[in-house]
Amino acid sequence: MFVCSPVLVFDYVALTPLITGTSAACPPGDTLEDNTPCNDGSNVCDHGVCNGSACTLYNTTECYCSREDQLCEVCCVFGGECISTFDWPEAENITVHPGYPCRDLTGYCNQDLECVYVDNNDILNDLLDNLKDLLFNLKSLTQWLKSYWYWVLASFGGLIILIILLQVTYRRKKPKKTERGPGERTDGGRPVGRRGQRGRGQSGHGRSGRGQGYQRRADEISPLIERTSQT
Ligand SMILES: *[C@@H]1O[C@H](CO)[C@@H](O)[C@H](O)[C@H]1NC(C)=O
Ligand SMILES: *[C@@H]1O[C@H](CO)[C@@H](O)[C@H](O)[C@H]1NC(C)=O
Ligand SMILES: *[C@@H]1O[C@H](CO)[C@@H](O)[C@H](O)[C@H]1NC(C)=O
Repeated sequence: MFVCSPVLVFDYVALTPLITGTSAACPPGDTLEDNTPCNDGSNVCDHGVCNGSACTLYNTTECYCSREDQLCEVCCVFGGECISTFDWPEAENITVHPGYPCRDLTGYCNQDLECVYVDNNDILNDLLDNLKDLLFNLKSLTQWLKSYWYWVLASFGGLIILIILLQVTYRRKKPKKTERGPGERTDGGRPVGRRGQRGRGQSGHGRSGRGQGYQRRADEISPLIERTSQT
């Protein structure tokens, strides 16, 4: 029974090793002595927690090896240099526990003791790519506008002119519609009648002329009223 052997798991998000298990700390009294190897020898017990470095066995501190084939080996500072325990004759060959960080905390060691690179900037890079695309599209749009601005201006002006024209014709048509009943269909009859009325008035036959005028107008209007009432 190894009470001080919780599993060392690597937190991929925070890039820090975590101790998991029912209890990270060993029950009091049952704790193994400090510097007792645990985690298959890649760590040592430290106050009942298996998170001490195996390098403490050699009175030195742990470090990260930079050589590609040594990324998942336990490396310690030997003689002021970061050297793998595999290369230090006085040390045992120690590999790190799977899940242990490597490559200066930018990756983790898998079961086959390969350093799997964790691109912490993946999401950020995606975001930047999208932003770049958007900016590029905006840029091409402005470039298009720069080279074809007159088309945009012309179509805008054309649209305004069209709107004005439509409004003018609409306004002209509207009053025509209301006057249509008595006015338009008589077309000429009424103005002629008025002119004749005036002319006769001047010539002295005002009464008869006027009477004729009124009659005529009434004659003209009555069918119109009928027509309008029909519609
Ligand atoms: C080991 O774990 C203990 C308790 O969780 C913590 O106080 C200590 O700093 C850890 N040591 C290392 C080297 O991570
Ligand atoms: C580490 O240091 C301790 C005392 O500080 C000593 O007893 C032990 O022999 C040393 N171990 C090595 C490998 O030098
Ligand atoms: C430790 O590793 C080195 C280099 O890979 C090798 O030469 C040596 O024999 C190994 N020692 C043991 C005890 O396995």
